[in-house]
Amino acid sequence: MAQTKTEGPLARLVIHDLAHRNGPAEFAADVRRGLSSNPKQLFPKYLYDSLGSRLFDAICHVDEYYPTRAENEILTRHAEEMVAGIPDCRTLIELGSGSAEKTRSIIEALLLHQTELLFIPVDISASALEKSSRTLLAAYPALRIEAYAADYLEGLAAMQPLAPGPALMLFLGSNIGNFEKAEALTFLRAIRRMLRPGDALLLGADLKKDRATLEAAYNDALGVTRAFIVNELARINRELGGNFDLWAFGLRSVYNESAGCVEVFLESLRSQLVTISGLKLSITFQAGELIHMEHCYKFDVDGLSALGLQSGFRLERTWLDERQRFSSNLFRAADS
Ligand code: AVJ
Repeated sequence: MAQTKTEGPLARLVIHDLAHRNGPAEFAADVRRGLSSNPKQLFPKYLYDSLGSRLFDAICHVDEYYPTRAENEILTRHAEEMVAGIPDCRTLIELGSGSAEKTRSIIEALLLHQTELLFIPVDISASALEKSSRTLLAAYPALRIEAYAADYLEGLAAMQPLAPGPALMLFLGSNIGNFEKAEALTFLRAIRRMLRPGDALLLGADLKKDRATLEAAYNDALGVTRAFIVNELARINRELGGNFDLWAFGLRSVYNESAGCVEVFLESLRSQLVTISGLKLSITFQAGELIHMEHCYKFDVDGLSALGLQSGFRLERTWLDERQRFSSNLFRAADS
């Protein structure tokens, strides 16, 4: 396990890099499996290499992509009220921390009442983790950071048992929407096992709404979402020796209303043969054939409450943005 330790604010930083160790072999195996199956699929966690993490940050600034702004509105307005429910919180954990921009509201609210805080961010992108950790440590002298570059479950499994004192877990940005229902339950149960009765989970979840708003959010006119999604093919080219022609794939984002999720696809714009030399694999595409890239489930408060109950959490309070597009949900870990 690679660890980083230095002087200055960085003396308060430890990074455990698990993604680096397991990443390449897993990526190769998942690409082979996904592109050999019918229908073809790729997995959203591989969208976040260092370029992909930056493209996602850019999405968050695009007009049509409202979730980040809506959640930010909620967190800046209500952070103090949110953390009031976890007095003397010693440990703040965040899964999928990314740029950790929104986390700052929570950190600042906590540090109004205490002089020490351990922040444990988990993110698949080591570069995003390092950058966000440096920024946070420079801004908050009272903070220590123990970061995990890993996927969520790996990161949770690698964590030390929590220090005494209340803990707050953050899972923001509607990242939960990338999971199928059964996976979401497995995942929330893993979070619940990590926490102790009385600890809290703040879950950000995008709400069901009209098709036009949702489809525009996942197919912005600037083409930033397309760049973000096509970057996974570019990554296959870079890391696995693929020869995808990136211009030969278009973005298709469709709201599946009965399933309550936006499904993001790449469509092959012509019939073509793609070779991935690192996998010794050739793949044919029909014109119009789709690669399934991502599920983005949308929620309602009743569904979130039920999800909590099935995984050992009680939904204590929900905050919405002014336009009621997005929800921040404070769950309490129930007695086990
Ligand atoms: C990072 C999973 C929350 O589903 O809204 C944004 C990913 N994909 N635009 C989302 C995403 C295309 C995003 N999450």
